[in-house]
Amino acid sequence: MVEGRCYHAGFCASIVAGSGGGCAISLNLVKKIKVKLKSTAYDVLIGSESLRIAGREIVRALGGVPSLCLVVTTARVHKHWGSVLEQSLRAAGFRFVVIEIKDGESHKNFAGVESLMRNFAKHGADRGSVVVALGGGVVGDVAGFAASIYMRGIPVVQIPTTLLAQVDASVGGKTGVNLAAGKNLVGTFHQPRLVLIDPQVLSTLPDREYRAGLFEVIKCGIIRDTKIFGFMEDHHEQVLNRDPKALIRMITSAVKVKADIVAKDEREGGLRRILNFGHTVGHALEADSVYKRFLHGEAVGWGMVAAAEIGVLTGVTPQKTAQQISALIQIYGPLPQVKSTAQDIVRLIQSDKKTRNGVPHFVLVTKIGRTLIANGVPNVAVKKAVERLRHLSSERLAVR
Ligand SMILES: NC(=O)c1ccc[n+]([C@@H]2O[C@H](COP(=O)([O-])OP(=O)(O)OC[C@H]3O[C@@H](n4cnc5c(N)ncnc54)[C@H](O)[C@@H]3O)[C@@H](O)[C@H]2O)c1
Ligand SMILES: [Zn+2]
Repeated sequence: MVEGRCYHAGFCASIVAGSGGGCAISLNLVKKIKVKLKSTAYDVLIGSESLRIAGREIVRALGGVPSLCLVVTTARVHKHWGSVLEQSLRAAGFRFVVIEIKDGESHKNFAGVESLMRNFAKHGADRGSVVVALGGGVVGDVAGFAASIYMRGIPVVQIPTTLLAQVDASVGGKTGVNLAAGKNLVGTFHQPRLVLIDPQVLSTLPDREYRAGLFEVIKCGIIRDTKIFGFMEDHHEQVLNRDPKALIRMITSAVKVKADIVAKDEREGGLRRILNFGHTVGHALEADSVYKRFLHGEAVGWGMVAAAEIGVLTGVTPQKTAQQISALIQIYGPLPQVKSTAQDIVRLIQSDKKTRNGVPHFVLVTKIGRTLIANGVPNVAVKKAVERLRHLSSERLAVR
């Protein structure tokens, strides 16, 4: 299930001390966002080619060179970006191993975590070691979870390589795995010591994965940041072409939104719930199609259209705002067709882990940038919203 390969840093260590990692990246090209929590604080670094300075930034974040660096990744990501990271680790004097885990949501489970930790032990990882998660949200969640429980917790550094992981999963400290009974049912909060985001790694990401991440950026606009919402409306060509400046703009805005919300509510007691905008119906769509039809971001895209519609039906969201949301999501479509029935979606929402005492929470929009949490949304409004998705689906928004 998991392979480990061992690499030992050689002569480059001495170059590092005098040259800042032997690499031309200037720190002023790297944006820094601080996540300030009650328990801890860490930096999110965002910069094109910043992967090349990962080694020295990890040393800075940890306050020294770790005894062993456990790079957790997938074969696909390793093939594209492994050598860049490895070079920077060598240059910073690290001893490291690369452990490839199997790709895909179906491997985000206890067996995968156990196998990974066996590898940690096999390579002699101790309390002075660090886990570096190089990959999408699956790698981040699995590696973060393993780091949180191995020897009762060792540091983790997140280096997200999908847009979804860069704008969402890597920040905030949630880790975990799936059970047969449901997604993300087991997990921990384990804040990373550093998040390093290099938008350049997105150049190898498949188009559908890239577009799925855009819906989480749009979500940040709707709940908190009118400017990024406007940017997504006005710059779709640059966004879809992965223009480097547009990438930095989107990632920075989304990370700021998340960092700000997480700082105020580390463990999802209140404010953090607004990050679930579009997720109530989105999760139900994913579950109803057994996680096969939609990528997570795509389901959230449809879920946001539904939440806007529910807002209109309950008198919370102005019609014009709902149309604006639906139009923006349409720009970044097409999305897979919604085939679920309204009844099935309502049933799944009732059984969602975030539904307490049978009362689902809906995040609704009062205007772009402002939301409220509604507890008493009638089922009839949800059903109508799903009918609307099915209708839109049969028209322009759907791919198949
Ligand atoms: N912890 C959190 O707060 C949080 C938040 C949101 C989502 N998640 C979790 O994240 C997971 C989804 O993450 P995801 O959307 O990143 O999917 P993913 O991790 O499955 O990655 C998608 C695919 O892209 C490939 N890939 C990754 N980076 C690449 C690159 N640069 N070039 C080419 N291919 C690349 C991967 O190998 C994989 O095949 C879910 O399990 C979800 O529950 C966690
Ligand atoms: Zn999400």
